[in-house]
Amino acid sequence: MSDPTNAPVNPHLAAYAARGLKGRILSGVQPTGNLHLGNYLGAIRNFARLQGDYECFYCVVDLHAITQPQDPAQLAAQTREIAAAYLAAGIDASRHAIFNQSAVPAHAQLAWVFNCVARLGWMNRMTQFKEKAGKDRENASLGLYAYPALMAADILIYKATHVPVGEDQKQHLELTRDIAIKFNNDFAQPDFFPVTEPLILGAATRVMSLRDGTKKMSKSDPSDFSRITLTDEADAIAQKIRRAKTDPHPMPADAAEAEKRPEADNLLGIYAALADIDRDAAIAEFAGRQFSDFKARLTDLAVEKLGPMGAEMKRLMADPAHVDRVLRAGADKANAVAEPILAEVYRAVGFLRP
Ligand code: TYM
Repeated sequence: MSDPTNAPVNPHLAAYAARGLKGRILSGVQPTGNLHLGNYLGAIRNFARLQGDYECFYCVVDLHAITQPQDPAQLAAQTREIAAAYLAAGIDASRHAIFNQSAVPAHAQLAWVFNCVARLGWMNRMTQFKEKAGKDRENASLGLYAYPALMAADILIYKATHVPVGEDQKQHLELTRDIAIKFNNDFAQPDFFPVTEPLILGAATRVMSLRDGTKKMSKSDPSDFSRITLTDEADAIAQKIRRAKTDPHPMPADAAEAEKRPEADNLLGIYAALADIDRDAAIAEFAGRQFSDFKARLTDLAVEKLGPMGAEMKRLMADPAHVDRVLRAGADKANAVAEPILAEVYRAVGFLRP
């Protein structure tokens, strides 16, 4: 029988516990425009909620953004937009780091090492590459293919123990664990890199398109009506919810029925997340009622919850110098943690530092 006093302790977590913390977080969002409700409910809102219990590094992943074509002037504006969203969501930049990835060179430096640790067979299984490359795979960038190894580097360059994300990033986090374990085995000690835990939290970890309940809400969907963006005004939010696809039946009676009706299920998940209740409570609240009643209530709630945040984002985006100062200070904090870890990695790999 196992003796609890001899149970293996994750030394990374033990060190944080001694400081009254649950661990260290790294997460990121791509500055590719159209920041939407899925990004907020699946990720950014949780970033803010976790900041009391973790030491946090919140990154705007501009290196990841250029795996697909970006307009350089827009990329800079979109980078500030994500930083503004982090701040507007309530992340305290005086206690945690908000920064852009390219300002911390160790991400790209560790990513190269991980390109040499990750196996082609692992990368070939990544579904996001297949989705993003589409049919014209020969024409996809090499960066798009290597994307998950850079993501592993984002996380492990801080030896982050936890990563809050939406459900779509789960496979990338499994790869991150595989890379950490292989690096530890090949070059270091069993606990050199932590085996990172995903934090997939809330009632809307996979928000679907408002036009098609079987497709993920995404920044790149050509239809603006597929997503609510974080800077939408109240009338745009109302119009998008009014036009959201539904089915001809009254609201589902129970969870089993909701599961079979993707559009209803998605809207109920959004409602539950915004109201901070669980999905079953949302289903019970509207069971058997008309969609029009439900949509009116959902609109009020979405405007109430998103309106102030959108207004704050716009205020911050009108002051780019302030946002840049936040990013600069965040990069300094992040570099101070990342550089010594990169030095340890380089030593372990055998790179000479003459
Ligand atoms: P990105 O920019 O596509 O999305 C940012 C975050 O939003 C979540 N998300 C969603 N959650 C619920 N429903 C949706 N429809 C939805 N769409 C997006 C994503 O899961 C993510 O948490 N590869 C990452 C960026 C990244 C990263 C990292 C994340 C780069 N390095 C390191 C964590 C740790 C991405 O493309 O996110």
